[in-house]
Amino acid sequence: MKIDDIRRICVTGAGQMGAQIAIHAALHGYRVALHDVSAEQLEKAVSGNRKHLDRRVTKGKMSAEDVDATFERLSTTTSLEEACEDADFVIEAVVEVLDVKRQVFRRLDELCPERTVLATNSSYLGNSDLAPFTGRPDRVVNMHFFYPPLVMQLVEVVKGDETSDATLELTVELARRIGKQPVTLHRELPGFLVNRILRAISNEAYYLLESGVASFEDIDRACQLGLNHPMGPFKLGDFSGLDIGYEARMERFHRTGDPEDRPAPSLERRVKRGDLGRKSGRGFYDYSTDPPTPTED
Ligand SMILES: NC(=O)c1ccc[n+]([C@@H]2O[C@H](COP(=O)([O-])OP(=O)(O)OC[C@H]3O[C@@H](n4cnc5c(N)ncnc54)[C@H](O)[C@@H]3O)[C@@H](O)[C@H]2O)c1
Repeated sequence: MKIDDIRRICVTGAGQMGAQIAIHAALHGYRVALHDVSAEQLEKAVSGNRKHLDRRVTKGKMSAEDVDATFERLSTTTSLEEACEDADFVIEAVVEVLDVKRQVFRRLDELCPERTVLATNSSYLGNSDLAPFTGRPDRVVNMHFFYPPLVMQLVEVVKGDETSDATLELTVELARRIGKQPVTLHRELPGFLVNRILRAISNEAYYLLESGVASFEDIDRACQLGLNHPMGPFKLGDFSGLDIGYEARMERFHRTGDPEDRPAPSLERRVKRGDLGRKSGRGFYDYSTDPPTPTED
């Protein structure tokens, strides 16, 4: 398949990532079917996207007609069959749980046309964990966006054990066509580039917190003011969703069995309480106040 043959994109999983990936692709002229098992999530995705684009209109960055045209290119459905029908490219953005993703890939392979490329937006899993559950391992790839996908420029494109060069190149080109700046990984490595570097920083941050060296708000402040990072690791965790970081660490711990890879107790307690960060209104910080205030553990 050539890049110009890609016209219809299916995004499955309409959470924080999928919702914005879908509208971003629609903004760049693609017809997009956004799928989720939850009708409520789909409604949330559409109303959230509407707010984002309306803000662009208010700021004079976009016309109301262009917003309407963008929404005309975006459809939503709880039927995966409907979403995959005639899809040229699928971006999977469902929860970061291996078994769920495997089931989704098996279904996508059954439902999508032969030509369709199946990409995962997983933050941690390599596509080689999913490709064997399809009959098209050469057309399975990682296309890793960053939160918030409407804003963040980077996309990591990762070649798996069986990803073909053609699939890799097509995915890189698609990322460019939707205005992103892709980087290519020629082999899989857990965490890819950015999250490996981020993990090194956040592991150290959790070590410092758990060993009582400093509070999380001071560790955040140190990274902001000393490293010139726009936000510290705990605030960034809240921003991305603490459950995402937790699941990724659990997945790694199950693989390595190394106690060092276990999620830190301060992270686990918050996730178990449902304090998932900004999306639930509370994580390391409480988002009901402006500015957000540090929470007691
Ligand atoms: N949050 C981030 O910062 C970030 C960044 C890059 C990549 N990712 C990756 O993107 C993926 C999604 O993350 P998120 O933050 O959007 O999660 P989220 O929890 O906000 O959304 C996940 C969505 O998947 C849906 N879902 C669950 N099972 C499904 C199924 N079988 N079929 C279709 N939909 C299903 C849920 O209803 C939910 O809407 C994960 O793989 C994550 O690793 C997340």
